[in-house]
Amino acid sequence: MTSHVITFPDDFFWGAATSAYQIEGAWDEDGKGESIWDHFCHTPGNIEDGSTGDVACDHYHRWPEDIALMKELGLKAYRFSVSWPRILPAGRGKVNQAGLDFYSRLVDGLLEAGIEPFPTLYHWDLPRSLQDEGGWAARSTAEAFVEYTDVLSRHLGDRVKHWITHNEPFSVAFLGHQIGEHAPGLKDTPTSLKVIHHLLLSHGWAVPVLRRNSPGAEVGITLVCIPIVLASSSADNLRVGRKLDGQFNRWYLDPLYGRHYPADQVAEHIADGNLPAEGLVFVEPGDMEAIAAQTDFLGVNYYTTIVLRDEVVPEGENQPPVSSVSEVECTDMGWPINPDGLYQLLNRLHFEYQPGKLYITESGASYSDGPDKDGRIRDQRRLNYLRQHFAAAQRAIKCGVPLAGYFVWSLIDNFEWNKGYAQRFGLIWVDYETQQRILKDSALWYKQVIADNGLVTPT
Ligand code: FCB
Repeated sequence: MTSHVITFPDDFFWGAATSAYQIEGAWDEDGKGESIWDHFCHTPGNIEDGSTGDVACDHYHRWPEDIALMKELGLKAYRFSVSWPRILPAGRGKVNQAGLDFYSRLVDGLLEAGIEPFPTLYHWDLPRSLQDEGGWAARSTAEAFVEYTDVLSRHLGDRVKHWITHNEPFSVAFLGHQIGEHAPGLKDTPTSLKVIHHLLLSHGWAVPVLRRNSPGAEVGITLVCIPIVLASSSADNLRVGRKLDGQFNRWYLDPLYGRHYPADQVAEHIADGNLPAEGLVFVEPGDMEAIAAQTDFLGVNYYTTIVLRDEVVPEGENQPPVSSVSEVECTDMGWPINPDGLYQLLNRLHFEYQPGKLYITESGASYSDGPDKDGRIRDQRRLNYLRQHFAAAQRAIKCGVPLAGYFVWSLIDNFEWNKGYAQRFGLIWVDYETQQRILKDSALWYKQVIADNGLVTPT
């Protein structure tokens, strides 16, 4: 096999990503309010290994060490999320200065290390008191989000130059409100449609606030995009593929890019009884214009694709009309690996929606490889995964896609939501007993990629 060297644009943001609940710990310290994830994890039976994010990676106390590790890797950027209940313990009203100070120190520490901060305002840890008032199903939560955005960006807006409003509204709606695997643990599709609308609305309302408080900064939102791979062009395959693409992708992309919710999907939801015959009754005048606020970039989280079978399984509550092809290689999450899906996705987004810029805000793989006897972590499978996906991203750039950065999920092993600590996505190993961190082989390789601004890839 021959190999060749590929390179990236000069100012490419090589980064890594985390989120507050997954790494910080300190769940009730320094005036922080309770979040829906605190509550969800403290309720027995919700997390597969019975664990919680109470301590997680103890990043709240160990952030200087973690920044030092980022610096050692040569990261150009770091994507983290801010815990809303650290800033506003009750979701609105009283501000917790200690919470603001924490993120202020983190941002200063990153800048001193030459690392560009990319904060996400909402990565799923809603203040619990807002959930008690209806959570994202209530329009008032979108209003509270604007207040939170204002408080935070007034404090960090002078130093932060890249803001991400939301992380994966799809996951909030689907995992949290349709199948109940994530907080707040609801199983109610009609509610989830309202939830999505209020998430998108809060994004649209937050954009002008960020622009005002952080002049010149880039503002965007992060979506998880899950391409649907058809097995054939049979009528059934096309129908199911179009429907799933509508549910997972177009329902979010279309309104953000000024096209309203997709009409075919609205009709499906009416037919399925998820919406009344009048349709989207929760949409008020001006909402769709607000949601379509001009942004500077689209953040894309990419892990996998859904591979359809030709023979379509009948729809049923516990049986989606799709099944993954078993011979496809999967990560420990059971997610099929498909680097070419990333290349195609980036081209599709560029062609169909034309965001000014794209960042891959998450991409990575769960593998449990731990330290060998010599202490070294030979996570070759993660390294291969990243190599293939970096190469796919570079091919997309060569086709003209304005991809400006790539954030590996994740910087460190962390609390993987309802899976607990069993799934490890980190470039850096965490020993949860001692909180010791060890750079895995993939991290050392990534360090070289960043230093070279490129990599060697098999042809
Ligand atoms: C994404 C989440 C992130 C992490 C990865 C594996 O959907 O945004 O927090 O859980 O999946």
